Amino acid sequence: MILPMKELVLRYMEEVDQATASSADEVEKFRIKFLGKKGILNELFAEFNNIPPSEKRELGFLLNQLKEKVQQKVEQFRSILEMSKPFQKLDDLTFSADFYPMGSRHPLSIVERRIIDIFARIGFTIAEGPEIEDDWHNFSALNFTPDHPARDMQDTFFIEKRADGNDVLLRTHTSSVQVRIMEKTKPPIRMIFPGRVFRNEAISARAHCIFHQVEGLYVDTNVSFVDLKQTLLYFAREMYGESTRIRFRPSYFPFTEPSAEMDISCPLCKGEGCNICKHTGWIEILGCGMVDPAVLENCDIHSETYTGFAFGLGIERITMGLYQIKDLRLFFENDTRFLHQFKAAF
Ligand code: DAH
Repeated sequence: MILPMKELVLRYMEEVDQATASSADEVEKFRIKFLGKKGILNELFAEFNNIPPSEKRELGFLLNQLKEKVQQKVEQFRSILEMSKPFQKLDDLTFSADFYPMGSRHPLSIVERRIIDIFARIGFTIAEGPEIEDDWHNFSALNFTPDHPARDMQDTFFIEKRADGNDVLLRTHTSSVQVRIMEKTKPPIRMIFPGRVFRNEAISARAHCIFHQVEGLYVDTNVSFVDLKQTLLYFAREMYGESTRIRFRPSYFPFTEPSAEMDISCPLCKGEGCNICKHTGWIEILGCGMVDPAVLENCDIHSETYTGFAFGLGIERITMGLYQIKDLRLFFENDTRFLHQFKAAF
């Protein structure tokens, strides 16, 4: 009987789960069986070309999972063999027979590290700021007018109301770190600020009261919108692949002028239109703009000498796009069945 491919892959997964090996030879046999030139995985990947497109996404995912499973198993076999060597010789009866399962990195950490790594390659360094902020760093220095709706109790978690108006609050964005850095650092500044932010939102599949952002800031002489575009194009291509296109839509943020939102061409359908990009071919990934001169002046940076650009992106949104995760709450529930599916490249 010829099994449908999905079933076959699932059976192989089970076989891999149950496989044992007690010598280097056996490990090698197992490896060749699955990963060898004429091994099972190569055969399956060859067959993958013949299956109908509608099944490709699910099967592709399963095939990659199987491959990772086999690679992990081989590594596990090898480290068990390696670890048991000297102890066998020494006949150490106190040696534990149990191997603790390895943890895995949280998907948000995986994506945050990737983002940091991409910007580090073009000279951005990292800094962090406090999660408990004051009104000045989170709002006033960033040009939010006193009556701006973001200052409303409905959007911001306030910790303490102060008579002088410099209320204590949980930061609503990582843009606050821009201010902290610019207050104490002279340009050139080329930095990113990853971190956790808080907003008074009802929890749903698409929103949470805690989430994560990465903020970017570049201040120097002669920084222009061209630098902003080139930097973000580099980021988009490193993150989503060489053929990725970007587009900017005019927008408004109090702390940048001009401001824009950046979309990338949908990595799944390459811009043709699919469910993920709601048939537009584009996906919004960040907000950005040229730092408003008033913000530079608030931080004692001379706005006629220096210009800068800034951007802010949401890690949850990017992670959901990359892994096709439909419900944001999964990130915070710590269900290991969910978390174990993600493998870090570094
Ligand atoms: N702080 C904004 C937010 O939380 C994101 C953002 C937009 C940051 C534009 C920026 C920027 O630095 O230039 O929605």
